[in-house]
Amino acid sequence: MTGTFNIQIDKIKKSRVSEYDINNVPFGKCFSDHMFVAEYADGKWQKAYIKPYGDEPLSYAMSALHYGQAIFEGMKAYKNEQGEVSLFRPLENFKRMNKSAIRMAMPEVPEEIFMGGLMELMKLDAAWVPTSDTGSLYIRPFLISTDEAIGVKISDSYKFIIICCPAGKYYGEPIKVLVETNYFRAVHGGVGFVKAAGNYGRSLYPTKLAQQKGYQQVIWTDSETHQYFEESGTMNVMFVIGDTLLTPALSDTILDGVTRKSVLELARSWNMKVEERKVSIKEVFEAIENNTLKEIFGCGTAATIAHIVGIGHNGKDYALTPVEQRAFSPKVDETLRQIRKGKLKDSFGWMMKVA
Ligand code: COI
Repeated sequence: MTGTFNIQIDKIKKSRVSEYDINNVPFGKCFSDHMFVAEYADGKWQKAYIKPYGDEPLSYAMSALHYGQAIFEGMKAYKNEQGEVSLFRPLENFKRMNKSAIRMAMPEVPEEIFMGGLMELMKLDAAWVPTSDTGSLYIRPFLISTDEAIGVKISDSYKFIIICCPAGKYYGEPIKVLVETNYFRAVHGGVGFVKAAGNYGRSLYPTKLAQQKGYQQVIWTDSETHQYFEESGTMNVMFVIGDTLLTPALSDTILDGVTRKSVLELARSWNMKVEERKVSIKEVFEAIENNTLKEIFGCGTAATIAHIVGIGHNGKDYALTPVEQRAFSPKVDETLRQIRKGKLKDSFGWMMKVA
């Protein structure tokens, strides 16, 4: 970081943190005291500031609302027993944000703005980081196009904003998913590999249909053949078949998840067999039939690990191994939790302390 960006700070008069039980709030509905904003116009980043969390005046004609030039990240901060706050692999999110920005024809966010703003915000809102075992502060950096113009074109102005909310478990219970073979999440040459807002909007209708049938989420399959698994809801998806951990290889239809990467690194460090490749519906259902399918789970920032205990396909429901009998995903979940909470040595160098 070069430190040329001066962040103006307008501190809240009185913190709102005591109004909430931050160890016990629903995901994404209660926001911390401050927000970070950086403004882009005339071909450069103009100014950066922190102000009390609240609404911003934005035009209803702004292009993000109409044409979806909008991207985001999801990341988390954790508090250890000494009350110190650390971020989990924040540079991975910084890098991915800019990958998304390039694909969506948006300006890249300089590291000094992304990381500088994040660190200042964490220092101001440290009291909002939950102390509970499974709690964290969910951080939502996002970049939106703000031109007041209805013509379809690359916007000239943008806002990069960071807001935060205390979070507990994303899914209260293990989930049941439906293999989606009609709608798809991503297509080759599209934007599935980046965190574009529209990827999430387009998923809601198929998810609603699955929920009406009693599933919590869908498992996406490839758009061309619907024979290969891609992702699970808003998460990457993994399978344990026999003694091998399998996950779809990264491509332009798969998000390069930070949790995905971390789970794979842990598995490899435990000398588990790991395969990143195409995973077919056929092989997974054959493994269910011959009892070699041990686990299916989703992994993402919000949920960390979402155990999948039921899967529906072609009008048939299959019950999977109960979580208590799973060897890998509960262990990986607990290991990540302990590293993040400072209870286990951070031998991968994943945590970045907020100082
Ligand atoms: C994540 O888990 O990383 C997500 O992106 C989920 C979020 C959309 C709530």
